[in-house]
Amino acid sequence: MPVGIFDSGIGGLTVQQAIAARLPDQPLVYLGDNLHAPYGVRDAEQIFEFTCQHTERLWEEGCDLVILACNTASAVALKRMQETWLPKNKRVLGVFVPLIEAVTERNWGDASPPREVAVDQVALFATPATVASRAFQRELAFRAIGVDVEAQPCGGVVDALEQDDFELAAELVRSHVAALLRRMPKPRAAVLGCTHYPILKDVFQDALGPEVDVYSQGTIVAESLADYLQRHPEMVGADRPGRFLTTGDPKVVSKAASHFVGKPVVFNAV
Ligand code: DGL
Repeated sequence: MPVGIFDSGIGGLTVQQAIAARLPDQPLVYLGDNLHAPYGVRDAEQIFEFTCQHTERLWEEGCDLVILACNTASAVALKRMQETWLPKNKRVLGVFVPLIEAVTERNWGDASPPREVAVDQVALFATPATVASRAFQRELAFRAIGVDVEAQPCGGVVDALEQDDFELAAELVRSHVAALLRRMPKPRAAVLGCTHYPILKDVFQDALGPEVDVYSQGTIVAESLADYLQRHPEMVGADRPGRFLTTGDPKVVSKAASHFVGKPVVFNAV
């Protein structure tokens, strides 16, 4: 069966591309809710409702396993979905925990008590909703002690990328990094806690300086998924083809997505 990948828009393509490279035989159905992007400025109730609705749509495509390739949905809706909504025969995984496991040098599912780790000062760049949820700090506290987190809500960046305006997005990134460095002048690591941001990883790195380790999610999530599928072979299969779906205008989204990933991507209407 195909694996479903959900994002509010085109940002999750950074995760989809990494998964496709790591698991080339695994069909993937991607769904972007471009009509309602960005999620990062919406309230928790709306994010929960949209995420559930589109996860159900991916079930109709045969995807019993859905990856929320959206930090905002992972941070704001995933816990509630798993606790109150998800049927027993379906799985929904987020992109937040694999990232935190990487920063805290843990393997998948390592549930040992929190311990000291190499990084002590972490800069988090994410959407306003993800920052407000404090999910990063909560998940980090389960795994590490003594880590200072300074979070920067990066308003406007997702909007600019969804509208194919890379120049504006890069300008906004530079000003968000400068704002964070005023509060935390020497972070050891920076976490790109939004799947749209890896496309501007060089801009983040350049603005932060070469001594800062910049973590982004594509390969981290792809490795976690490969590990998960090995342990759950019933979720693997090539019985249905992969495809790209959008709630937005397929023509407009295909154009922006192709620019975003640097190769042609053809979206269909949901
Ligand atoms: N790319 C998504 C994330 O990882 C969502 C951004 C948005 O829709 O605001 O947070």
